[in-house]
Amino acid sequence: MALLDWISSDHDLRLAGENVRLRPHRSGDFEEWAALRARSRAFLQPWEPTWPTDDLTRGAWRRRLSAYAHDIERGLAYPFLVYSSDNVLVGGITLSNVRRGVAQMGSIGYWVGEPFTRNGYTVSAVRAVARFSFERLGLHRLEAACIPSNEPSRGVLLKAGFTQEGLARAYLRINGIWEDHLLFGLVSPAPASEHRGEDVLV
Ligand SMILES: CC(C)(COP(=O)(O)OP(=O)(O)OC[C@H]1O[C@@H](n2cnc3c(N)ncnc32)[C@H](O)[C@@H]1OP(=O)(O)O)[C@@H](O)C(=O)NCCC(=O)NCCS
Repeated sequence: MALLDWISSDHDLRLAGENVRLRPHRSGDFEEWAALRARSRAFLQPWEPTWPTDDLTRGAWRRRLSAYAHDIERGLAYPFLVYSSDNVLVGGITLSNVRRGVAQMGSIGYWVGEPFTRNGYTVSAVRAVARFSFERLGLHRLEAACIPSNEPSRGVLLKAGFTQEGLARAYLRINGIWEDHLLFGLVSPAPASEHRGEDVLV
């Protein structure tokens, strides 16, 4: 990835973590993204919603970016690509289902390419998105969920400071099956009085 890619209009949505950098998707990312997803397919598919048959095509990429832009514009979701410090695409993380009003919370989901596992990239990305959520968006709480047998994902969340809060039955349809999920939560460390969204009821 070219260094110039970091000098662009999405300046406000570029995040830095301990050993990662995060930024929104751009049209020119297609080939690198599709190549990493393709080579990691067997590793990722058991833990993700079923991939549409055209998922790795340019047409689907354009639709994906258009949906992402729509959601970012409305403050509903913030999808990021995750890069190592030496600018190699290693994975992705999304803050989604941002709810305002009395909730002031969002959900996170993530993946890392198979060649890049166990380098701490995802924990760093989760911490960076948590800081963004609490300090920049003023959210109060983050949620995440994983299948009970997904030991790596459970490890990521615990290491990033999340607390296991419960079990939701048949919570998400993963790889074609409605799977039970462990639920995790992280509450903003800031005192309640410092939350920008406090007492906003709309
Ligand atoms: C879950 C996933 C994102 C973890 O990514 P990662 O970048 O390898 O995770 P990290 O290197 O940040 O690991 C952080 C911690 O998670 C745990 N962990 C990660 N991989 C693990 C593994 N294979 N076995 C056991 N624990 C693991 C460990 O506690 C690890 O800390 P440690 O290395 O100091 O022991 C990755 O395995 C993945 O993409 N899996 C497939 C898709 C998926 O499960 N997505 C999430 C759905 S809820």
